[in-house]
Amino acid sequence: MDAFETIITRRSIRKYKKKVIPQEIVQKLFQAACQAPSAGNQQPWHFVLLDDRKILNVIQTFHPNAKILTEADKAILVCGDLDREKLKGYWMIDCAAATENILLAAHSLGIGACWLGLYPREGRVAGMRKLLHLPSNIIPFALVSLGYPGEVKPKEDRFNKSRVHLNKW
Ligand SMILES: Cc1cc2nc3c(=O)[nH]c(=O)nc-3n(C[C@H](O)[C@H](O)[C@H](O)COP(=O)(O)O)c2cc1C
Repeated sequence: MDAFETIITRRSIRKYKKKVIPQEIVQKLFQAACQAPSAGNQQPWHFVLLDDRKILNVIQTFHPNAKILTEADKAILVCGDLDREKLKGYWMIDCAAATENILLAAHSLGIGACWLGLYPREGRVAGMRKLLHLPSNIIPFALVSLGYPGEVKPKEDRFNKSRVHLNKW
């Protein structure tokens, strides 16, 4: 699948098969995440691989959409590190780019994934912080659930001509 096809056909996958994702694929997802653009190349991120069933199952107690993690093989928590911010206010934009890279890489490798938002919802951020004992400079930004797809989602054409402008509004 070329890059354009990957972008155009990616969908959120929320149902998964009971099949383990091998470490080589997980490594590629981390590589893709770290390859994201960031403001001033500050790379203000950390990633936590979650594959402990007890941890995956408890997330739904503070995240309303995290039931899907009970089926997922793993999840990646994307975090921002305030101590690595050279350019104030950009960490969450950089983390969003890293998160999207994980979603696209997963799709291109045959893995289903879904972005589960944490930041800026205070309850979800606090829940994740408490669960993993995160230090105060680390902000949990998003979870990406991962598993071999247990559903097929058709490509959705969202191109909207009215959102594209030529030289003036
Ligand atoms: C910032 C952000 C937060 C999201 N949070 C959730 C979430 O909590 N639960 C969920 O099921 N999907 C979540 N999504 C996925 C969106 O619902 C999904 O991307 C959107 O409906 C478009 O569908 P698609 O990903 O299949 O193209 C989130 C996406 C983004 C970008």
